[in-house]
Amino acid sequence: MILSIESSCDDSAIAITEIKTKKLIFHKKISQEIEHSVYGGVVPELAARLHAEALPKILEQCKPYFDKLKAVAVTSTPGLAVTLIEGVTMAKAIAISLNIPIIGVNHLIGHIYSLFIEKETQFPLTVLLVSGGHTQVMEVKSLTEIKTVAKSMDDSFGESFDKVAKMMNLGYPGGPAIQELAKDGDRLKYNFTVPLHQSPLIAFSYSGLKNAVRLAVLDAKEEDYKDISASFEHIATKHLTMKLKKYFKTNPPKKFAIVGGASANLYLRGEIEKLLQPFGAELLLSELQYCSDNSAMIGRVAVEMYEKEMFSSVDELDISPKSSL
Ligand code: KG4
Ligand code: ZN
Repeated sequence: MILSIESSCDDSAIAITEIKTKKLIFHKKISQEIEHSVYGGVVPELAARLHAEALPKILEQCKPYFDKLKAVAVTSTPGLAVTLIEGVTMAKAIAISLNIPIIGVNHLIGHIYSLFIEKETQFPLTVLLVSGGHTQVMEVKSLTEIKTVAKSMDDSFGESFDKVAKMMNLGYPGGPAIQELAKDGDRLKYNFTVPLHQSPLIAFSYSGLKNAVRLAVLDAKEEDYKDISASFEHIATKHLTMKLKKYFKTNPPKKFAIVGGASANLYLRGEIEKLLQPFGAELLLSELQYCSDNSAMIGRVAVEMYEKEMFSSVDELDISPKSSL
């Protein structure tokens, strides 16, 4: 079995995965959403302190499996430096005390493998990752052949939901709150400009849209918030689908996946489904519980890395807050 730890942002999670069967034996996550909600976003130092409390509590429950562990895996990149270090330090202590190898996992690859928890992989695959930290399209052939073909030049899709929610005092995380308000709103009420709609670039940008929403909120009353949310969600999604449509002209999709915390967004899922229809492409989604950060996805990647003997030494493994794929 492999024990895997995730602490790249505001979720403390530990999983145990059986190597041979890929079965998830144990999975526990303690989220910090309530603690960060008053600040309208993640406060790194607070997150680090909460990981330091939560991770040992979860690890305690893993003790019965310690004698079966063949390796320990941990998210080492990308993420918040002060929170990554909490997981990595714990993983190193486990590796040394149980004398087992350590595996450093890339969080973004983790999101891709959230599609395959307790399942076999399906490649090649075009993947849209939409999370709080990232918005990018990747062509994935295998664990080690991942090519990013488009990414955000500034804010990410999920982050823009968080920031827009903060403007309307809806708390953190903003995605679910905006989605809920948008349900009863008029998507065409506010005519926000689709980012980069005249640019030939296949890239994403959310900072301009965020500012347009800021101006709308300044002028609005609380009863307008549902229409602002609906119009924002519509344009934020339209930006993704317009750029994907452009990309598909030269790279028609066969299998397409949406992963990351914001892949839970139902409007986005529906619009992507429509976009894929003419291509007859299959849409893959993670189970809802594995869309947001978790350690089951880190364990699933670790199984592949274990089989390929992609180990790090305890001295070598370091955090890398800002890596990209
Ligand atoms: O993948 P994740 O848990 O953490 C990162 O790796 O960043 O993603 C969290 C992000 C947050 O920005 C959150 O607002 C967004 O995912 N999110 C959503 C929805 N649920 C979560 N965004 C839009 N609609 C949702 N339903
Ligand atoms: Zn994530």
